[in-house]
Amino acid sequence: MEYKLRKAEPRDVSDILRLVKELAKYEEMEEQVMVTEQDLLEDGFGDTPFYQCFVAEIQGEENHSEDPKAVVGFVMYYFTYDPWVGKQLYLEEFYVMGEYRGLGIGTDFLRHLSDLAMKTRCTGMMFVVAENNQPSVQYYKRRGAEDLSQEEGWRLFRFDKSSLAKMGTPAEE
Ligand code: COA
Repeated sequence: MEYKLRKAEPRDVSDILRLVKELAKYEEMEEQVMVTEQDLLEDGFGDTPFYQCFVAEIQGEENHSEDPKAVVGFVMYYFTYDPWVGKQLYLEEFYVMGEYRGLGIGTDFLRHLSDLAMKTRCTGMMFVVAENNQPSVQYYKRRGAEDLSQEEGWRLFRFDKSSLAKMGTPAEE
């Protein structure tokens, strides 16, 4: 089956949201997806993009141009900065639809990200994997990823919106 990877465009936001929801469902956290197509459009394609995406699109006979499922996988990433070692890529989302797995699409996405990281002189690519997603843990480990939670003992934290509101300057009456 032929496919091509390409940079996501504004017209892809509905596919991106569909795949975000599929991945969240796979992780059994679908109800936590609050983002809308409009958010994805403004946040990824406005003056200050907060994320970047590459999508995998099925080519040739399988791709009937109006087929909403022609986009079968995506990676979402952005650049971050580690004051110890400098620029880093952050891999936020990585997903290929079930029936298109095992074709090498994921490997091609990782090749693209590795090339990008080398070109921009990043020192690494960070990501989080759910503890119970063992197929992916093994997938990354086979490619040389280090498990920092295990090796260095980091724990993932978040201040949610209500905690931020409490810590922030009180709104004026
Ligand atoms: N389904 C899943 N994996 C398969 C497979 C299938 N039908 N057939 C083969 N595989 C194996 C391959 O042997 C290969 O392993 P190896 O190259 O390490 O030996 C790997 O799974 C597939 O490699 P590849 O084709 O390059 O990747 P992919 O296009 O299947 O995409 C993921 C990889 C992780 C993006 C994809 O499996 C996925 O979307 N998984 C569910 C979502 C997820 O866990 N995402 C990561 C969140 S952190």
